[in-house]
Amino acid sequence: MANPSILILAGDGIGPEVMAEVKKIIGWFGDKRGIAFDVTEDLVGGSAYDVHGTPLTDETMAKAQAADAVLLGAVGGPKYDVLDFSVKPERGLLRLRKEMDLFSNLRPAQCFDALADFSSLKKEVVAGLDIMIVRELTSGVYFGEPRGIFPDNEGGRVGVNTQRYTTDEIRRVARSAFELARRRGNKVCSMEKANVMESGILWREEVQWVHDNEYPDVELSHMYADAGAMQLVRWPKQFDVIVTDNLFGDLLSDCAAMLTGSLGMLPSASLGAPTESGRPKALYEPVHGSAPDIAGQGKANPIACILSFAMALRYSFDLGEEASRVERAVEAVLADGARTADLMGPEGGVPVSTAGMGDLIVQALDASL
Ligand code: IPM
Ligand code: MG
Repeated sequence: MANPSILILAGDGIGPEVMAEVKKIIGWFGDKRGIAFDVTEDLVGGSAYDVHGTPLTDETMAKAQAADAVLLGAVGGPKYDVLDFSVKPERGLLRLRKEMDLFSNLRPAQCFDALADFSSLKKEVVAGLDIMIVRELTSGVYFGEPRGIFPDNEGGRVGVNTQRYTTDEIRRVARSAFELARRRGNKVCSMEKANVMESGILWREEVQWVHDNEYPDVELSHMYADAGAMQLVRWPKQFDVIVTDNLFGDLLSDCAAMLTGSLGMLPSASLGAPTESGRPKALYEPVHGSAPDIAGQGKANPIACILSFAMALRYSFDLGEEASRVERAVEAVLADGARTADLMGPEGGVPVSTAGMGDLIVQALDASL
């Protein structure tokens, strides 16, 4: 039988640097665990635009559709700010999400003990934190029609985007949140703005419907998204799984990421419906961006990208034990004090480069055998 396939799209900015460390981990699994993957690489974002004049070619799109999992680094950079909206690096990422129909975006926010002091919040607020944000990823205001910038009747212009959700779109992402909750703390909090938006009223009703008809055993609560943002920084440990729409999920997940100390720590999985292989369509990427200000300097933290690969092991390849092995290796390295620049707080630590962090994680994996 062929090895499972992984398509790597390292992208722009720090993307290629952090992905280089992930490749070390993938190599380690082939060498030391007999778990080999067929890895191919291609371009996305600005780096694809530079070569092909588009942030994602049809050929790359087809490869992504065919791969068992896609690993993405990051896209974007100031160099591309001047480009037309239709070919901006972000359009490549959004096309992948949309055409692969990756409707369920899992963004865990876990606080490693070694970093509890590092959060901008008090230690007791974040120590032991383990929450999961499930963000709807293929609909809502990111994709709703009509959209555009049009002339208005007074000689000015009007910018339009449309928040739109259907019953099915809400129910399928709600199901994925309830499924996850059953394997964790069995609690889901759904966030919307039902006080001001009809799409929020529908969201609340449909999530409640899925709960009452299919997951009555899971504890469900509802919160307005603004209050949810406030509760996330007040007492985040009240949450287990949060399910929310595309735009609120974008905001709330950056907020949750910072609870853990650094955006450089947070992985994500974007999952679609199961394919014939039984595996879901899947794309894994760090929550952080391309960080052009530090690109090419060996300063980037590769942990979010490495933990994204761990999520691939768990959600695409049914290798939950091996995923935990990677997570424990990261934890051990942090406990030993190794710190990339983003993790260097007042309490100090041992400064390491991007590659240094990757090497230490490989060593910790060796020690786990
Ligand atoms: C994210 C990012 C993206 C988004 C951008 C890069 C298009 O912020 O994945 O959270 O807004 O979804
Ligand atoms: Mg974002």
